[in-house]
Amino acid sequence: MKKIRLGVLASGGGTNLQSIIDACANQSIAAEVAVVISNNPDAGALQRARNAAITAECINHRDFSRRDDFDAAVVARLQHHQVDLVVLAGFMRIIGDNFLTAFPMRIMNIHPALLPSFPGLHVQQQAIDYGARFSGCTVHFVDSGVDTGPIIIQAVVPVLPDDDSDTLAARILEQEHRIYPQAIDWYARGLLQVDGRKVTVLQTQPAAAALINPPLKS
Ligand code: GRF
Repeated sequence: MKKIRLGVLASGGGTNLQSIIDACANQSIAAEVAVVISNNPDAGALQRARNAAITAECINHRDFSRRDDFDAAVVARLQHHQVDLVVLAGFMRIIGDNFLTAFPMRIMNIHPALLPSFPGLHVQQQAIDYGARFSGCTVHFVDSGVDTGPIIIQAVVPVLPDDDSDTLAARILEQEHRIYPQAIDWYARGLLQVDGRKVTVLQTQPAAAALINPPLKS
C-alpha cells in the first residue's frame, strides 16, 4: 500500500500530532508525516516533530498583515513537501478560501465536541454548562465554515457529574487519539466517499449499541 504524505498543522501541545506520528511509525496507518507546520514558534508540536526527525516549520501569522498572505505561505510549503492530505491538529487559524481551493476535500480537522453541537472554542466547558449528558469528538473534512464540514467519524464520552473542563477534555482527548489516525487511514486507502454532507466509509460495519447516561435502572 502506497503511503500518503501528510502535512500536519498544529498550534499547541501536539498530542494529536503525536498519535499520528506513532500510528505512522508502527505502520498502523498508510501514511507518513511529510511536514509539521505551526503558526506558533513555541508550539510543543514542533518539538514533537523534531523528536521524530520530521521536518518542522514555523510560519508565524504575526509576520503577515493579511490572512490570505499567511495562507498562501502555508500552502506553498505544503505544496513544496508534496502533501496529499492536510491534517489540522489543534490549528488555531481559520482556513481561507484560497487554501481550501488548493486542497479541495483534502483538509481534515478534529474538534473536541459532537458536531454540530458546540462548534468554536472552549467547547468542553460549553458542554458542561449546557448540562449535556454526552460529549465527544468529531473528525470532519474542512469547508468554508467553522467546524461545519462533512463528518467522517465521531466518538462519544459521558459527561460525569464532577467533571470540569480539564477532566472532560482529557476523556475526549483519549478518544481523539484513536479516531484521528483511523480517519486518516481510511482516507489513505480510498475508503471515504463524499456526497454533499454525507461521508460513506466503505468496508465498515454499522455501529452497534445505544448509549444512555445516566444508565437505566437495571
Ligand atoms: C484538541 O482538543 C483538538 O480537538 C482541538 O485542539 C486540541 C489540540 O490538542 N482542535 P493537541 O495539541 O493535539 O494536544
